[in-house]
Amino acid sequence: MSLLIDEQISRAGHVAETVNPSLDLFAEIKKLKEEKNAVILAHYYQDADIQDIADYIGDSLGLAQQAEKTKADMIVFAGVHFMAETAKLLNPSKKVVIPDLRAGCSLADSCPPDEFRKFKEQHPNHVVISYINCTAAIKAQTDIICTSSNAIQIVQSVPKDKQIIFAPDKNLGRYIIEKTGRDMVLWDGSCMVHEIFSQQKITKLKEQYPNAQVIAHPECEEVVLKLADFIGSTTGLLKYTQTNSCNEFIVVTESGILHQMHKASPHKLFIAAPPNNNCACNDCPHMKLNTMEKIYLCMKYEKPEVNIAADLMDDALRPLKRMLEISALHGL
Ligand code: 13P
Ligand code: SF4
Repeated sequence: MSLLIDEQISRAGHVAETVNPSLDLFAEIKKLKEEKNAVILAHYYQDADIQDIADYIGDSLGLAQQAEKTKADMIVFAGVHFMAETAKLLNPSKKVVIPDLRAGCSLADSCPPDEFRKFKEQHPNHVVISYINCTAAIKAQTDIICTSSNAIQIVQSVPKDKQIIFAPDKNLGRYIIEKTGRDMVLWDGSCMVHEIFSQQKITKLKEQYPNAQVIAHPECEEVVLKLADFIGSTTGLLKYTQTNSCNEFIVVTESGILHQMHKASPHKLFIAAPPNNNCACNDCPHMKLNTMEKIYLCMKYEKPEVNIAADLMDDALRPLKRMLEISALHGL
């Protein structure tokens, strides 16, 4: 690896090489997958092409489960940094690369480790449940991780006489309080994408499409969730559109998921819920930093790599393993 390439990576987060536009990226990425025994794990919020080249597409729980069982030598994570960190925690000896190191998450950023430590000190003897959308440094201060697919079961696994801190997503936390009846202390974090859905615009869409069902991700605000006929993780939303007899859905989450919804039910109508700005649909700017070109380059150069500080490894892995064990017990 030349010094120049290393410098480019540290500046831009990925190799800033111009990719020949005539290159068949699908074929090149497939070739690299075989040559390097690599697996591409992609989240539903990725661009359609990235979803189509991936070996597995899923929500945060599915992606963690796939990462845990992969036999590949290299994991290419088409998602955001905390997801790649999760894959690395589960595979400390494997190489984990991410197309763009700057693909962060506003929710993970809303929970700085030092402030979280002080917050925990203010609430001693609480069991700490953290949403997987957090950094390894927060995972290391956590008792059990959860995702939007298993948060109810994880919270219910804590004995009733124990008090709970739930971090970092206050919207998911509030929703889980309502579903489980458990009183939890919430960290005041949120997702920039799910917080800006417009209650007014969704209400108007409902009038325009009276037969449509509103389906929403639990990271949305309470006023938006109140409009929903169904609330679930990305995988939950996708499955609902496949199994429900309704033919029209207003989808209140990041618009990338619509690709799989269209593929699974081509005869149905999917309307991306609009945000509270001039855009028609709602994209996560972090997720959308990944491109086919960057996937190709990160596989070619095996950079940028995601690594975790050695002193965090054991403490951050423990709550993740607990989540996977509890999920398995519930058949999730
Ligand atoms: P899930 O795909 O696990 O529902 O999470 C949504 C999300 O916002 C990921 O960043
Ligand atoms: Fe983070 Fe929200 Fe983007 Fe998911 S959609 S990665 S929670 S900012």
